[in-house]
Amino acid sequence: MSGIRPTGFLHLGNYFGAVRNYVRMQEEFECYFMVADLHSLTTHPDTKELKTNVHRVLSENIACGLDPDRVALFCQSHVYETAELYLYLNMLAYKGELEKTVTFKDKVRQHPENVNAGLLTYPVLQTADIILHRASYVPVGKDQEQHLEMARTFANRFNHRYGDVFPEPQAFNYGDELVKVPSLDGAGKMSKSENQYATLYLSDNDKLIMDKVKKAKTDSGPTEPNSPKPEIIQNVFSLMKLVSGQDVIDKFETDYNNCTIRYGDMKKQLGEDMVKFIGPIREKAESIRNNPAYLKEVMEKGAEKARKSAAATMELVREAIGLNYF
Ligand code: TRP
Repeated sequence: MSGIRPTGFLHLGNYFGAVRNYVRMQEEFECYFMVADLHSLTTHPDTKELKTNVHRVLSENIACGLDPDRVALFCQSHVYETAELYLYLNMLAYKGELEKTVTFKDKVRQHPENVNAGLLTYPVLQTADIILHRASYVPVGKDQEQHLEMARTFANRFNHRYGDVFPEPQAFNYGDELVKVPSLDGAGKMSKSENQYATLYLSDNDKLIMDKVKKAKTDSGPTEPNSPKPEIIQNVFSLMKLVSGQDVIDKFETDYNNCTIRYGDMKKQLGEDMVKFIGPIREKAESIRNNPAYLKEVMEKGAEKARKSAAATMELVREAIGLNYF
């Protein structure tokens, strides 16, 4: 089970860091992938763009290979059981521990005018999302580690108080394969950063991709054969590894080691390979986005699967708590 916030556009870092793992997991596990639209209300009370954003994130994930026939791909707000479980879990979550959450403290700093109770209990809602399906594996990045730790705490607390209902959810990734997708400006990794030009989005058109890659940071080139690569150069090679063929990579490795490398050529090649990689995803996502009838069908089918699993869990939960009067 995992949740995807419907804010912003998917970029290459999201693809290699998350979506690609979802696509792989769907082959091995029974999967629930959810658009976290309710979570977005904690920070984005203005819902003008919500529908567009939900459609976008669904389209992009499907275009990347998530198969709505194989997994439950659904919206959080369509599964009403979430709200019920959230309520019960709120009685098991203490104000003190919630106030210590790093993401909560960050948001308080960023938006002191909107410190609402939903923001405080964000990790409780996330716990409800996960344990509603009695999920064991949660593919998330490092930034979600504390939330997952709290999910374990709340699940265990429920089990101790009311009896064993929930497995302990674990963060999941394909171990060795945590790839870093470096930013094009040589600083850190690709993210929804201030510098839009340093991040490749799955919605970028071919020209924009070529342009961004052309502007990637490089230096004046090696002067000694076989020298170690400075970080900004290593980054260009790392990006190439994600999308280019081995023969291409080998050629530029050799050129680098001979000091004959021309970064202009390398970036042109990388740009073209990025276009080949991103172009078809972008086009597929666009055509899905332009088909609201299909998206409706996806959401309905997803909600139906998720609610089936949720209803079964909630039977156990109400019984365990003692809300069974007849
Ligand atoms: N909080 C997660 C994020 O910011 C999104 C999310 C909501 C989530 N519910 C979840 C992730 C359940 C994993 C499991 O990205």
